[in-house]
Amino acid sequence: GTCILIGAPLACGQRDPGCVMGPAAYRVAGLAAALADLGHRVEDRGDVTPPPVSATTCTNPAVRELGATLAWTEALAQTAQTAMPQGVPIFLGGDHALSLGSVAGVAAHAAAVGRPLFLLWLDAHTDFHTLTTTTSGNLHGTPVAYAAGLPGFAPFPPFPAPIPAENICLFGIRSVDPAEQAALHAHAIQPVDMRALDEQGVSAPLRAFLARVAAAGGLLHVSLDVDFLDPAIAPAVGTTVPGGATFREAHLVMELLHESGLVTSLDLVELNPFLDEKGRSARLMVDLVASLMGRKVFDRPTRSLD
Ligand code: ARG
Ligand code: MN
Ligand code: MN
Ligand code: MN
Repeated sequence: GTCILIGAPLACGQRDPGCVMGPAAYRVAGLAAALADLGHRVEDRGDVTPPPVSATTCTNPAVRELGATLAWTEALAQTAQTAMPQGVPIFLGGDHALSLGSVAGVAAHAAAVGRPLFLLWLDAHTDFHTLTTTTSGNLHGTPVAYAAGLPGFAPFPPFPAPIPAENICLFGIRSVDPAEQAALHAHAIQPVDMRALDEQGVSAPLRAFLARVAAAGGLLHVSLDVDFLDPAIAPAVGTTVPGGATFREAHLVMELLHESGLVTSLDLVELNPFLDEKGRSARLMVDLVASLMGRKVFDRPTRSLD
């Protein structure tokens, strides 16, 4: 199939401008060539232009860069919805606020074609704040709550087709703020946190989720935050949390996703090349995308998902 690369150089969702360099770093690290080597058609649509920002406020004075984030959300939602029928869009971030837009556009597409949408969130964080609950004011901490249809997002447009709690899998979690914890409980979302992964490994919980996506005939959006990975292997992110996914766990996740054949869109977020060590985080992210899109060491028969 066709991989559609979409650069989204936004940094309005947190406090470090370095994420604007993310799309360039993925290109320099050879993302397009890695995908082409696997036999995919690759179409690089370049970077989405920063949209015009109008002054915007909400009731929580902590919230930062609301106008810019709203503008990016609308632009990226449109871009995502247009790209979905044409291939697998891969959003090159940019901080995680980009998913406010990418997931909204994907959800609008899913609703239009009448298929349920599932969301796999590979992240140290749950990103389950609303505009009301965030205390950091960094809107990269909000996209899952937006996608789940929680109230507290005015002046954002209502999320097109909110994703039911049981279709959301938060995976690799090891940092949750108190307000997020409360909202997750209220919304009946049980993250697959690091405790679960330590006990069960990545394979069993991921296979269980993928089996549900397959049974429902769903679309699957994967959002990969660099801080899902352990900081020792991926230092180029502003919000590192110790105890993340290892190199081997991360590749296994990607290989299972490939074998499932279910992934229909992908975000790569939070890469801050200014914090990298000679490009190693960018190159690791490219290698993970290659695993997700079919690179393997040795061919083996595919096991069933359940
Ligand atoms: N929960 C924290 C906050 O709201 C951290 C969010 C980190 N999110 C991310 N996409 N890296 O500020
Ligand atoms: Mn995140
Ligand atoms: Mn994170
Ligand atoms: Mn917070």
